[in-house]
Amino acid sequence: MTLAEFLNQLDELASSAQQQLEQAADLDALESARVEFIGTKSGRLKATQKLLGKIEKTDKPAAGKRFNEVKTQIQAAYEQQQQQQMANASGGGTGGEQFDPTVPGPRPRLGHLHPITQTIEELKDIMGRLGFSLADGPEIEDEWHNFEALNIPLSHPARDPLDNFYLRVGEKTYDQALLMRSQTSTVQIRVMENTRPPVRIISLGRVYRPDTPDATHLPMFHQIEGLLVDRQVTMADLKSVLRLFASSYLGADVHVRFRPSFFPFTEPSVEVDMRWNDKWIEMGGAGMVDPAVLKAVGYDPDEVTGFAFGLGIERLCARRHGIDDIREIYKNDVRFLHQF
Ligand code: DAH
Repeated sequence: MTLAEFLNQLDELASSAQQQLEQAADLDALESARVEFIGTKSGRLKATQKLLGKIEKTDKPAAGKRFNEVKTQIQAAYEQQQQQQMANASGGGTGGEQFDPTVPGPRPRLGHLHPITQTIEELKDIMGRLGFSLADGPEIEDEWHNFEALNIPLSHPARDPLDNFYLRVGEKTYDQALLMRSQTSTVQIRVMENTRPPVRIISLGRVYRPDTPDATHLPMFHQIEGLLVDRQVTMADLKSVLRLFASSYLGADVHVRFRPSFFPFTEPSVEVDMRWNDKWIEMGGAGMVDPAVLKAVGYDPDEVTGFAFGLGIERLCARRHGIDDIREIYKNDVRFLHQF
């Protein structure tokens, strides 16, 4: 191979390397150009270097010198392209997507209160405006507060072990048992035992029953209990308080219905229904506090009367938000909870 042929080949290599390196659109393309020209195994520079062996001895210094120049030139072109591509890729270079420091960053996703907690807070507000103050009681109850004082004697089916979560504590026998409270009516007793009338309280909290979960039942749910005891309290007071309560929480157009019913601790008793999707759904119970209950806590039924009510908070929340299966509330699917 003559020197002229060798130099020609070098020139051609230099210009096609320059061209391909410059045209590489991204780091991947640049890398394949690097392999093609500078690759140590089968790159074109390497192949050209081998041709040096075929050059006349006297021409070798000139050929070698030119080869080194071209090699340095290609290497430099590669490095320059590489730097530019990397700058583009990180958004800081020219041509690529620009980084704009004035664009607001992505907002962190904030959590919020669970729909039942929100409902509880709102119900407290509404009843607070109607003059009811907050009372509390334990979730583990004794039978006096859960049954006996509420006029539910030992023989009553509501005390059946199959319908309650009794707790085995030490060697206590069944009639001294503790249980997970099955209703917030327990708090009525606790309050009346400790205060003289007039009484005007609400209590909100969890209750427990061994029910099979379905669209309207859960083994753990929440109730709002209300109790008002004073002189000359009547059923009309109960009705107007519950109507006000329902329309404040669900809207002025909500229909409320009372159906005659029976609870051991009220006389007369009613079931409270509210209208939803052309159907009546049961929200809970209410009535005039039974004289036997007033006596059990040391009140004089000839002096004072009272009304009480207990409503399911999950059902109220479901009715308000159009949730047709209350089990959804406790699946903890953020996509569901996020909507409230
Ligand atoms: N405790 C009843 C229940 O859980 C609901 C209830 C009915 C509460 C009548 C009351 C009431 O305060 O007066 O089914």
